[in-house]
Amino acid sequence: MKKVLKIAGYTLGAVVLLLAIGAGYVNFSPLPKYEVVVPDYPQFKPDSTMIAEGKRTFTLVCNNCHMAESGKLEGKFLPEIPEFFGKAWSANITSHPVYGSGRYSNAELANLLRTGIQKDGDFVPFMPQFKHMSDEDIRNIIAYLRSDAPELAPSDVAQPAVQPSFIGKLLCRTIMKPAPYPTSPISVPPAGDAVALGKYLVTAKLDCYGCHSPSFMEIDGDFPEKTPGYLSGGNELQDMEGQPIFSRNLTPDKETGLGNWTEEQFVKAVKTGIRPNGPALRFPMTPFTALTDEEAKAIWAYLQTVPAINHDVNKLEKKP
Ligand code: HEC
Ligand code: HEC
Repeated sequence: MKKVLKIAGYTLGAVVLLLAIGAGYVNFSPLPKYEVVVPDYPQFKPDSTMIAEGKRTFTLVCNNCHMAESGKLEGKFLPEIPEFFGKAWSANITSHPVYGSGRYSNAELANLLRTGIQKDGDFVPFMPQFKHMSDEDIRNIIAYLRSDAPELAPSDVAQPAVQPSFIGKLLCRTIMKPAPYPTSPISVPPAGDAVALGKYLVTAKLDCYGCHSPSFMEIDGDFPEKTPGYLSGGNELQDMEGQPIFSRNLTPDKETGLGNWTEEQFVKAVKTGIRPNGPALRFPMTPFTALTDEEAKAIWAYLQTVPAINHDVNKLEKKP
């Protein structure tokens, strides 16, 4: 008996030691670097329509993270990232040739937005990968980043590097990985198909589903609609003060989702932040003011088609 206990003790000791070495490795070794394969990106001449549409997309998708208080795209601290994952500052993406996106070629920018791999081979944690965004939208964003808009005028501000927590580092070695660069063209859905447009906006362009599914840890980036608890809310974010705030259930469930909302109420909430049955929407759910009515209605049309899930998010809010 004693011998068995002794062997069990040694085995446990060995396991603990191995775990400690593993944890030490994850914590102290640098994050993985990736090979930068610059895609063959077609040359194009930005025109005013591309720049205007690129700016609108940027305002909808990127501004919240990259716009500094100075009114320039110099980057800033991101309070909404839970400390559990670490601390993050977005990057200066003004046209500055050393500190901003001026040092990127168009192809390198497209590669970063699609795959998450930066020019120097680092993976960009805490920034969504836009792997399903249409080629046209990506091109328009690049056209805008190359424009002479005042918010993009060169700035030499350098933001601190992202500081992932132990969990964040562990994730960077497991699930937070670069996506492959698309091998076939990605087009915008055909005009007139509201449900298809809504799906495109929710899953590919505006990333509503990332925040509005129950956990960032379980996002299915390849097949967004297969994400467990798709769009049923409960994902924990942080407000401006670092307090937990949970995303809401957007499925058509009558009891816990948007089942009793009207299209009009939804459009108003998403575009202005004013909701029918409660206080104004709080950070990080910033109103999508640049969305057209047609787009907001398309999102609503699509949401009517997703499975209703009974998931009471209010319960989470009351957690101590
Ligand atoms: C959720 C927040 C978030 C969103 C949304 C976001 N970014 Fe970022 N972005 C970041 C963070 C964080 C970094 C990395 C900072 C670092 O690595 O230190 C970053 C880095 C970058 C860089 C790299 C700059 C460099 O110096 O290597 C570019 C370019 C960029 N973002 C462009 C965009 C564009 C364009 C969009 C919208 C399509 C966007 N980002 C959306 C958070 C975000
Ligand atoms: C950065 C994460 C994030 C993104 C991206 C996001 N949301 Fe939200 N959303 C939240 C949070 C958090 C709340 C809860 C806000 C509150 O309770 O004040 C919320 C609340 C809402 C509500 C209110 C629902 C209710 O029951 O009161 C609607 C509607 C909504 N979001 C729609 C959307 C749509 C549509 C998109 C994409 C266009 C989107 N959200 C993108 C985080 C996000």
